[in-house]
Formats: sequence, C-alpha cells, structure tokens
Amino acid sequence: MRFDDREEFVQEEFDRQAERWVRRALSANEITLLERIAQAAEISENDRVLDVACGTGLVSFALAPRAAEVVGVDISGGMLAKARQLRHQRGVRNVHFALAEAEHLPAPAESFDAVVCRLGIHHFVQPDVQVREMARVLKKEGRLVIVDTISSEDQQQAELHNALERLRDPTHVRMLSLSELTDLVARTGLRVLEAQVHPQERDYDQWMDVINEPIRIENLKVVMAALARAGAGAGLRLRLEDGRLWVTHSMALVKAVKSAQGQTERSAPTGGTKGEGHSYLSASMGLTLAACHAG
Ligand SMILES: C[S@@+](CC[C@H](N)C(=O)[O-])C[C@H]1O[C@@H](n2cnc3c(N)ncnc32)[C@H](O)[C@@H]1O
Repeated sequence: MRFDDREEFVQEEFDRQAERWVRRALSANEITLLERIAQAAEISENDRVLDVACGTGLVSFALAPRAAEVVGVDISGGMLAKARQLRHQRGVRNVHFALAEAEHLPAPAESFDAVVCRLGIHHFVQPDVQVREMARVLKKEGRLVIVDTISSEDQQQAELHNALERLRDPTHVRMLSLSELTDLVARTGLRVLEAQVHPQERDYDQWMDVINEPIRIENLKVVMAALARAGAGAGLRLRLEDGRLWVTHSMALVKAVKSAQGQTERSAPTGGTKGEGHSYLSASMGLTLAACHAG
C-alpha cells in the first residue's frame, strides 16, 4: 500500500471509530495507566508536552492539569474533531490539537520537554521513522514515554496474535514484543530507563467496543471462539469462561530520556530472542523492568 493510500485508510477507519472512542468507559486499568504515564513523563508546570497519535485526546487531557501546554497530533480528522469538542466542553485552555503525521512532526528540534505516544506504535508501518521524529523534537534531558500493547516474544504466537488484531482493526500493522519495543526506542539514541508491563483483561465485547463494523465483530468472534476451544492462547491468553470469550493484553510502558548532550543514534543491540526478553533487557540496557498488575 502506498503511503498516501495508507494514510487515507487509517483516517477512514478512525473517523468511523471516533464516536465510540469518546463514548466508551475507561477501565480501572486504563485510569491507572494514565497516572503511570504522567509519573513516567515527570511533567511539571512549565513543561510543553507532545502527545503523538493523540486520537480523541485521552492522554492529552490527563496530562494537561500538570503541564504548561499539551499539543496533540493525529492524522484522523474525525478523532481530532472529537478531541476539540471535548476540550470545548471541559473548558481546557492549555491543550491544542493539530492534524499531522507522526512521521513528519510539525515542530522544530528540541521543542518539547516530554513526548508521549499511547497505542500509536502498532499502527506505524516503519515505527523507527516515527520514534526518531519523537526523539528529534524532544529537548535535551526530555522524557519519551511510549505505551503500546505488546505481543509474545514467541514468533508464532505473535504472528497469530497480530493476525487476529488486523482482522479486528485492519489499520493495525504489528504489535512488537517487549524486547523489540525497547530496542526500537534505544535505536534513536535515547537512554531507555524503564519498561513496565501491565496486563489488561477484557471480554470480547469490551475489546471490540470501538469497532464500528458488526460483520467484523461477528466473524472474528466465531474464529476466536474456535481457537479458544482448541486451546490456542494466540499470544493474548484467549479463553472461554462460562460461554464468554476473554483476552488479556499486555500493555508496555517504555520510558527513555535524551541526554544533556543530545541524541547519538546507535544501532540496536542484538539479542532479545525467544524466552530471553526480560533478562536481556535488564542486563544489556540497565533498565528497570517491572511487571505491574495494575488495579
Ligand atoms: C488506537 S488510537 C489511540 C489514540 C490515543 N493515543 C489514545 O491512547 O486514546 C490510534 C491513533 O493513531 C492515529 N494514527 C495512526 N497512524 C498515524 C500516523 N501515521 N500519524 C499520526 N497519527 C496516526 C489514529 O488516527 C488514531 O487516532
């Protein structure tokens, strides 16, 4: 798919999802994770914050009370229209939204104290491009906080998991494993300080909540129920309990900082293969890996 076609495709899908993103109720896990994003980004009252792939502004609004200014960018006009409507309804004055591609951030180098991106990475075809952009616009000693659902370190599980995610939302490109996600951030030259993993359990209907296309919802349910009956966890602990289908996603939060000298791009360290993800990460990058069970 050409980039322009892909952009249009993502815009169409999220324009369709926008209404549901605003209406859906936040889970206790999500609320906890928003607080963890704010803590990891170490936002204080003079900070300028960039929220990349901001959607309807969930993260932007959560960070706004602690910051001087939050700028949210997204390529879906529909999602941004909802974000602006919410800003108006809530009377929030220090959040601004702009239509922009994460691969070409409309900001000078070193212009933000913190950059956050929640649930954007798995929509990017070449996430190195977008994460490099995020690092570019970060000031020296600025913090980057990336949150995304991750998949298994086991390639077969990850392939099946990602295929199911693409059937749910065709704009989904690929959820990375935790080691791939931290390597991705490290390749920009930022120093990865921390990686947390938060399990998020949902039933099928909650997971499908934002998908505004009944035919997808029905067909995927048949496929996933069959997988669950066959005992396939599919990388997301797929299971049937009392006739209800359940999934557990792992949400990773990766925090990195730009050094006082700025950015020195480097190639990814090797390693992080099947089954070694956690030990490799903590050993080679000196980061704190915490498996958290959010509320
Ligand atoms: C799953 S939503 C997450 C929204 C928001 N970050 C949140 O956590 O609620 C993903 C968002 O990424 C946006 N997106 C996808 N590809 C993008 C790109 N290349 N540049 C900017 N935004 C993009 C979509 O339009 C959508 O709003």
